[in-house]
Amino acid sequence: MKTPVRIPQRPRRNRAHSAIRSLVRETQIQAGDLIYPLFVMEGKNKRVPISSMKDQSRLSIDLIVETAEECVDLGIPAIALFPVIDDAKKDRFAKESANPKGLLQECISTLKAKVPGIAVIGDVAMDPYSTDGHDGLVEGEEIVNDETLPILAEMSIAQARAGADFIAPSDMMDGRIGYIRRALDDAGFTKTGIISYAAKYASSFYGPFREALDSAPRSGDKKTYQMDFANKREALREIVLDAEQGADVIMIKPALAYLDVIAAARSRVNLPIAAYQVSGEYAMIHAAAERGWIDAEKAMEESLTSIKRAGADMILTYFALEMARKLSR
Ligand code: PBG
Repeated sequence: MKTPVRIPQRPRRNRAHSAIRSLVRETQIQAGDLIYPLFVMEGKNKRVPISSMKDQSRLSIDLIVETAEECVDLGIPAIALFPVIDDAKKDRFAKESANPKGLLQECISTLKAKVPGIAVIGDVAMDPYSTDGHDGLVEGEEIVNDETLPILAEMSIAQARAGADFIAPSDMMDGRIGYIRRALDDAGFTKTGIISYAAKYASSFYGPFREALDSAPRSGDKKTYQMDFANKREALREIVLDAEQGADVIMIKPALAYLDVIAAARSRVNLPIAAYQVSGEYAMIHAAAERGWIDAEKAMEESLTSIKRAGADMILTYFALEMARKLSR
């Protein structure tokens, strides 16, 4: 018997030129995958740039409306809103967060009236409204869990009443998804969805966001509620808990340093998965590009594609407009 001939393997044939590369491309980013996070502030025709985030600004409601229209034109289906609250309106209990006429609520209802084509996601956590800058209620040295839940539920109901398509709890308190789901249902908001920040890590990549909202914790850090970046099994535990409690979408945050967590979640749950490419990830790419060290546009596409390749169905990213513009060219 003759020994079989070994056929030489030449994977480069499938990379020979761009038409062939296009045929074999496994992952495509579409504008329809993107969610644009926006910072809303009081006033009219106000645009206050965020120094650490190139091309990103705090916007008054009228300019948020214009931006949402641009998103719709480009095929971006959703925006996620974070409010910039005046210090005078902050207190320990984040009371302003339940104000039916509050900034975020007004922004949501204006958007639903003027830009019906956009899905609106409201952030639920105490930090933008809290004098302590924590996502939960502070008592002494502690971020107390169960006392925070009714505050989050009131905040969620206020946003649902304003017309939010989804509310997105980003606080990492235990049991909040089930608590909020029940509160929404009891108040008649059975159609309001929940995008749960299920695996949110205590990360150094949130720095620019905290500058944008002036929401850094006044004391301590967030490590007793946000997750340790060393842990993956714990993320899966959090994700399963939030799925059981009624989350419609689960989120992993940040994205780029946690691609393995996204991939593990993908193979474990059947819910849609969101990933948040956070402020620090965005700022790093622009900072290196400003020095001429990397090409921002290429790094944008590569990083977003890697997040989708890992298994995310949707991506919150400050690059949403730029990426969608690139896709439409
Ligand atoms: C807090 C919240 C944070 C972000 C979204 N919601 C910051 C934090 O946890 O301190 C960060 C988003 C970003 O960095 O882009 N509720």
